[in-house]
Formats: sequence, C-alpha cells, structure tokens
Amino acid sequence: MKGIILAGGNGTRLQPLTFVGSKQLAPVYDKPMIYYPLSVLMLAGIQDILIITRPAELPVFRSLFGDGRQLGLNIDYAGQDEPRGIADAFRVGADHIRGEECALILGDNLFHGANLPSLLRRSARKLRGCVLFGHQVADPQRFGVAEIDARGRLVSIEEKPERPRSNLAIPGLYFFDGGVVDVTKGLTPSARGELEITDVLRAYLEEGTAELVWLGRGVTWLDTGTHETLLDAARFVRDVQHRQGTRLGCIEEIAMYMGFIQPEDCHALGAGMGNSPYGQYVMERARDFSLGLPPVEFMEEI
Ligand code: G1P
Repeated sequence: MKGIILAGGNGTRLQPLTFVGSKQLAPVYDKPMIYYPLSVLMLAGIQDILIITRPAELPVFRSLFGDGRQLGLNIDYAGQDEPRGIADAFRVGADHIRGEECALILGDNLFHGANLPSLLRRSARKLRGCVLFGHQVADPQRFGVAEIDARGRLVSIEEKPERPRSNLAIPGLYFFDGGVVDVTKGLTPSARGELEITDVLRAYLEEGTAELVWLGRGVTWLDTGTHETLLDAARFVRDVQHRQGTRLGCIEEIAMYMGFIQPEDCHALGAGMGNSPYGQYVMERARDFSLGLPPVEFMEEI
C-alpha cells in the first residue's frame, strides 16, 4: 500500500506562525508536527510515501527526511501550488499511486492508542473500496461527520454540517483502493472551490464499498489546526511522555520495531541527536532492542 501525507495549505488559522514555514513543521512539544502522521503510516506498515506541500517548502521537507532511506522508507515529494481541497491529493499524487491501494493522512492529524497499529493493519488488509474512521467528539460540526443506522452501518457523510446527525467525526486518515484517482476525476469542486474528501467518500458509499471503522475510546485523535488545538496536542504529548517515559511519534523507534531498519541504524540516528533527550531515548530503545528486552507497550501487537 502507498501512503500520502497532505502537508499543503496556507495555515491561515495559525497566522502569524505560518507566514514563513509550514504548519506541518510547527512543533508539537518535542518534534515537528509531521512526525505524528508519518508514524501512523509507518505503523500501518507503509514504506512508500509521498509528501505533498507548498512548492516553496519542498526543500525544507526534503532536508528533514531526504529520500527516507535512513528510516527504511522511500519518501517522495510533490508540490501543490494552491490549496484545492484534500481530494486534490489524488490528482497531485496520481503518479505515486499508480493504481495501487493508498492511505491518505492529513499532516495535522495526531493519533495515539495501544490498539492503533493492529487496527490500521487489519483495516488495510480487508480493504474493499474505502475505509474511513469514526471518532466520537464533542464538536462534530467542525469536521466531516458520519451518520450510522441502528445496526451501526454507515448511511450518510456530511462535511461540517450545521446540524450534525451524529457526534461521529471522520478523522483525516483514509484508505482507498486503486480506483480513487478516477473517482476524484469525476468530482466537481464544492461551493468553496475545493475537491472535498467527503465527496470522494460519498461516491464510495453510493457504490456500497465504504466501510466505517470505529476508533474506540482507547484511541485519542487530535487535530492541530488552531492555536488552541496545537497547544492541547503539545500538552497531551508532554503529559503522556512524562508519565510513561515513552515518546509518541518517534519515527526512528517505529522504523526499528517495524523491521524497516536495524537496531544499530536506529542507534546511529539517536546518536546524531545525542544532545537532546529525544536522541537519548532513541539510543536507549535501540540498546534495549539489541539486548532482547521487550518493546515498549504500544508496540506489543506488532
Ligand atoms: C478536513 C476534512 C474533514 C475532516 C478533518 C479532519 O477538514 O474536510 O472532513 O473531518 O479534515 O481533520 P479541515 O480540518 O481541513 O477543515
């Protein structure tokens, strides 16, 4: 399965923070925001990843990840000159997808939860059409919203409805079959001139091939598109990390546990940041792994 991280947009809701520099590189406590969605794709077992950004920011993202080899990944980049909606990712990324299945994640979405890796891999394995996720929130009108019937089946999808029919928001993570590029070609832009992801999902729903997977209470989903939610996310990451002595979204550790790189490679990546607590942590994890110590809890199911 291919992966796409959509890290474009002008981040207008975060100005002046985003006047220069991408929103998806803003710090979420101890690492750039994009580490979190990247780690989700990696936990789903995806190694072939396209990052879509504003053209001006391509060199910055490139200097952060290069071709991804150090993490056992193959990372490619594409520019999106104007924000034309989330589904535009399938137009920009058509050459990357090449008719294969693909996962799209928004560069400002953060997920955390013990059963997340197995949930993602199970959803990817049984993909037939598209998989979208549902997560209960207090303010569904800010998101895409899924309506389900009494038997839990998906019946409707709406984008930021004034009167939501449920409190089940649709997070910015989706799995699609190889037909998604053609589905997107058939879409017309919405009133705000954008190719809406909810229209793509609705096309699959009408075909009877859209599956809703419920992210239970054990999973935390945060978006980081406003100053408040950005700070909330940073606090969440800090609190969990301090309490548990773990690191969320630690891409070096995940690459090692997923078998993308060897422990000595992971250790070298940590050593390169050895002055920071993050680098120290990466080195410790690599040492533990080499000694055969059990992986930290969140990796148990891998
Ligand atoms: C987008 C999608 C929406 C989804 C949300 C998740 O909204 O349009 O359906 O629920 O991402 O973060 P945006 O945050 O771009 O306004």
